Amino acid sequence: MNTDKIVILTGAGISAESGLGTFRDEGGLWSQHRIEDVATPEGFERDPDLVHDFYNARRAHAAKAAPNAAHAALARLEAEHPGEVLIVTQNVDALHEKAGSKNVLHMHGTLAGALCGACDHRWTAPPEMHKANPCPACGTPATRPDVVWFGEMPYFMEDIWTHLAEADTFVAIGTSGEVYPAAAFVQEAAMGGAHTIELNLAPSSRVSDFAETSFGTATRIVPDWVARELAR
Ligand code: APR
Repeated sequence: MNTDKIVILTGAGISAESGLGTFRDEGGLWSQHRIEDVATPEGFERDPDLVHDFYNARRAHAAKAAPNAAHAALARLEAEHPGEVLIVTQNVDALHEKAGSKNVLHMHGTLAGALCGACDHRWTAPPEMHKANPCPACGTPATRPDVVWFGEMPYFMEDIWTHLAEADTFVAIGTSGEVYPAAAFVQEAAMGGAHTIELNLAPSSRVSDFAETSFGTATRIVPDWVARELAR
């Protein structure tokens, strides 16, 4: 029986066919907004309403999105593979969970989360958030999305490094490999002896670090890979 530990990193590309934009593709989010304006603490300090408008729009869009065959395939893998399956996602949408995945770490936070900039209290975000919304715990009007911005420390990093060291297989799906520390995960996993696989629409910046690659749309190549993995 194959009880390999499988660690999967996902990026915006796995949610593209669910209608959610990626960041760096043609027409992507970073061609419509400046990162420094909507995805940094300094940008939030400068114009909190602009940042909340950006995330309120993404939260509304994500709430209407449905998981696609790639998300469903990863949920099937977690349910049917005898070994541990962990998804570390850079995505802030909830499509892995909507597809049925349970073992998911959101290293960049989630659109569903709200955070108090004054006391670090966290709660479930309302559909529309505004900085003036008082924190339910301390009452300060310092509400922000519980999303990790550039210059901030991603979540769960200690656990993630441990999982990468223990992985027998590491798979990166739908990520450009442009943002660290996620872009370094393939090398970390390989150093721990993992077999590394890139499943992407096109070769990422880290493609040469992977032992195996498969290119195409996630809704095609991810179910294909899961079927092969479960048949091993
Ligand atoms: N199927 C598979 N891969 C796809 C698809 C698809 N249908 N569509 C796009 N892709 C691939 C692209 O080829 C690209 O390599 O998904 C990747 C998307 O890359 P980015 O837009 O850079 O998204 P991501 O890698 O998730 O960005 C990482 O950067 O801005 C930050 O916090 C943000 O979490 C994000 C991080």
